[in-house]
Amino acid sequence: MSKKIFSGVQPTGNLHLGNYIGAIKNFVNLQNDNNNSCIYCVVDLHAITINQDPIQLKKNIRETAATFIASGLDYKKSIIFNQSLVPAHSEASWILSCVARMGWLNRMTQFKEKAGKDKEKASVGLYVYPILMAADILLYDATHVPVGEDQKQHLELSRDIANKFNLDFKSPNFFVAPEPLIQKNFARIMSLKDGNKKMSKSDPSELSRINLTDSSDQISNKIKKAKTDTQTLPDNENGLSKRPEAENLLGIYSSLSDQPLTKTINEFSGKNFSDLKEKLANLVVEKISPISYETNKLLKDETFIDKILKDGADKANEIAYKKIINIKKIIGF
Ligand code: AMP
Ligand code: TRP
Repeated sequence: MSKKIFSGVQPTGNLHLGNYIGAIKNFVNLQNDNNNSCIYCVVDLHAITINQDPIQLKKNIRETAATFIASGLDYKKSIIFNQSLVPAHSEASWILSCVARMGWLNRMTQFKEKAGKDKEKASVGLYVYPILMAADILLYDATHVPVGEDQKQHLELSRDIANKFNLDFKSPNFFVAPEPLIQKNFARIMSLKDGNKKMSKSDPSELSRINLTDSSDQISNKIKKAKTDTQTLPDNENGLSKRPEAENLLGIYSSLSDQPLTKTINEFSGKNFSDLKEKLANLVVEKISPISYETNKLLKDETFIDKILKDGADKANEIAYKKIINIKKIIGF
């Protein structure tokens, strides 16, 4: 079945191995299935829900786009653009915020996590962020949205908004309720310093994550210093329960070598962490260094990156403009 794919990544810097395994690697696989049409968006409007330095933001937008391309996204096959170049996203977001209910947003766990203890000081944008995400997806009639597990709740909200709009305005099937595409096995890559915490852009410890711009030496060093426990590696999956660090490192190895976890467990059964770390470091360097090299090379030509984003935005705009015209017609503007 042919799928319409849409996904987005925030240009907030420090793209890491979790973003690659949980999202970007999947974007590339979906693109390479010729039945699919894919749109990948650098969601800069989402990024400003927390404070951003304007100069750094501009750099991060280009860096995210360069990482997409360096990871194997092809701007001739997929539409690659940044959100703020297509005005329909902001327009649709306002309209959909009049469809979504307060109660729905109040349930969003990511807002609670990101806003922290002092909710009063969070931006209103951070609160309504999932509505903008729904607008992104619904404007393109996306049928499938590849994301990490943390975005599942936001996808459910997008479906609720689509269904309520269709019902309220008696326009059955106008918006398509999107399905999340979440990888079963490696949906959450954990911090290298704490197997119970997600690998994250905002972790203050550089040793907690492998950035997609790290050099080979940095990668090897971070894996060498990754947290472990004191036992040898188990011989079956049950042996991974309550061993989050072992599970994470074996999971990263499986994902990057495109083999099932059971095969990786067999490969390392009874061995020490040092054996796993040595092989894992080689594998991560093999997979990530070319991306890092290519990203840095692409970033030297800003005009080229800007042109890709602008050309992508022109294509996106053609689709989104038609949809927003119809949205306005339906609601009586
Ligand atoms: P963000 O960096 O929050 O914009 O996330 C971009 C994409 O990467 C989203 O689809 C996330 O679900 C995914 N992602 C972020 N961190 C991780 C992680 N530690 N493990 C797996 N996927 C992740
Ligand atoms: N909220 C997503 C994240 O933080 C990014 C995002 C914005 C997105 N719009 C989207 C993901 C639309 C998928 C589809 O990771």
